[in-house]
Amino acid sequence: MCGIVGYVGDRPVVDILLDGLEQLEYRGYDSSGIALKCADDIKVYKAEGKLINLRNTLKSHVSEVSSSTMGIGHIRWATHGAPTLLNAHPHTCNCGNLVLVHNGIIENYKELREKLTAQGCVFRSQTDTEAVAHLVASKYAKTKDLTEAVRLATQEIEGAYALCVMHNDYKNTLVVTKRNAPLLVGIGEGEFYVASDVPAIIKHTKKAMYLNDNQIATITPEKLVLIDKDGNELPQKIEVLPWEPVALSKMGYKHFMLKEIHEQPDVVRNILVGKLHAPDEPIVLNEVKLNKETLKNLNRIQIIACGTSLHAAMVGKYLIENFCGIAVDVEASSEYIYRKTVTDAHTLVIGVSQSGETADTLTAIKQAKAKGSHILIITNRPDSAMAREADSLVPVNAGIEVSVAATKSYTAQLMAFYLLALYMAEIKESVDVPTMTSLKAEMMLLPQKIDQILSNTDEVQKCARAYANTKDFIYVARGINFPTALEGALKLKEISYINATGYPAGELKHGPIAMLDETMPVLSILMNGSVYEKLLSNSEEAKARNARMIALTNSNDEKLNDLFEHIIRVPDVQELFSPVIAMVPLQLLAYYIAEFLGKDVDQPRNLAKSVTVE
Ligand code: G6P
Repeated sequence: MCGIVGYVGDRPVVDILLDGLEQLEYRGYDSSGIALKCADDIKVYKAEGKLINLRNTLKSHVSEVSSSTMGIGHIRWATHGAPTLLNAHPHTCNCGNLVLVHNGIIENYKELREKLTAQGCVFRSQTDTEAVAHLVASKYAKTKDLTEAVRLATQEIEGAYALCVMHNDYKNTLVVTKRNAPLLVGIGEGEFYVASDVPAIIKHTKKAMYLNDNQIATITPEKLVLIDKDGNELPQKIEVLPWEPVALSKMGYKHFMLKEIHEQPDVVRNILVGKLHAPDEPIVLNEVKLNKETLKNLNRIQIIACGTSLHAAMVGKYLIENFCGIAVDVEASSEYIYRKTVTDAHTLVIGVSQSGETADTLTAIKQAKAKGSHILIITNRPDSAMAREADSLVPVNAGIEVSVAATKSYTAQLMAFYLLALYMAEIKESVDVPTMTSLKAEMMLLPQKIDQILSNTDEVQKCARAYANTKDFIYVARGINFPTALEGALKLKEISYINATGYPAGELKHGPIAMLDETMPVLSILMNGSVYEKLLSNSEEAKARNARMIALTNSNDEKLNDLFEHIIRVPDVQELFSPVIAMVPLQLLAYYIAEFLGKDVDQPRNLAKSVTVE
């Protein structure tokens, strides 16, 4: 969701900006633009749609722009105003001398707009961002100092922002700042890079500085000066990024999503490395700072997350309650932050986030931290804003996930919950030793079971072709696989735009059964275990209403052959681990349907990978 890049140095800037933006494409966007300091003027170029359109626009301006060595760039995911050229960033003040890019949402933009219009500013776009451009310019008119203008302007802004600003009066200066939106500065030799995320700069440098909220950095090729919101100079915390330049390559797969689905056996192996050596050895979570005393003092756990991470959290609740006997609530971060929650020093708050940057979850975490709760973060990005708020951390090590639809990060989050729940159970001694050993042994077998699923996808592909043209889809399950039904339906919705819903099967007869007829596919996630027979009865009820029945199962039950039109079989697995196994064919089903329909699988319309606005 919106990506910012910037560069100041002595190298031609155009390709640095365009390549940087390309590395941020995974975040999701619908238009793009760059601003370049050229000879005596700043030039702005924008395009709707994909980055290739911006590249093509620039082709006819090569001579004007090729010598520029300072610039800023942006990919925009529309929040205020349609994804048009006018609304695309960079935005300028009326005279065009001040130019900026912005990630986030300015909540008081209407008030600012009115005030600035009364002062004579003429707005050309519908964006919240343009108000910031006029505001900084109005401060600059008084101070003639770009850093001070940015500092004063941010004091009047409410909301979230990462900003990168340049001005015609400055040949080689960028001013950057942020609040509740990601931003880092890469440090080179006589050059600096600005970006919303590491992939945009890692090819150039591993040295970087993450800005904290309300800090302002003034960058020239020679140096970076960091100040706080009151203008006091701050020491700089330079980090070495633990990243290798990532070739965002599909490695022969047609889409990143398919590649990421196929990476899952290794993702599971990776997360277990160093944490679980053998079934009879204790689980090691070095960055989790919970002990017998803290667990004894807990009276509840709250897990907060969004999207796919929320579904992983729902499985996590099931596991923690089952293994540790502690009450767990799961809530969407966007709901959690706007109500009076019962959260205190006796609450363990677990935030789950692939990106570690999702604005709602970040805000929820900060709120809980302010109430004295222990904050545990499960994330794929140990370098993220959420990880920096954590008292305890479980990094999921899934590697960068490019496809907007989350797949391998979900599986990795599930694994994190198995490890965490069993780790806490070991501290609490709430699971007997033979059971614990058998659970760990089963966990270690998961990679080869996923491998088995991935080695034969014929039935899933057949199913995908059979149902690709349906308008609706219902996924049903019970117990620990209810979140699997939600996540399976979400995957299908996200990338194929088919209206898919996940239901707890016992609820079918309380409403959704009214929708069943011969046009409606119902997919039952029928995994062996405590609710198998119950779900079978619910499936019979659906079949009796002529629904088109599909089973995803690890059962050899012969009854299934009469009941279901299609049966997708998976390897047998203990019930508690079945969400890991059941999800893989559902990811594949969504993928093959979307692919069959010719959809933009990796970058579905309207979606962003990293949602940095509330
Ligand atoms: C976006 C993505 C989803 C993701 C959700 C939460 O909506 O498209 O795939 O599940 O954000 O993201 P997080 O990074 O916090 O897990």
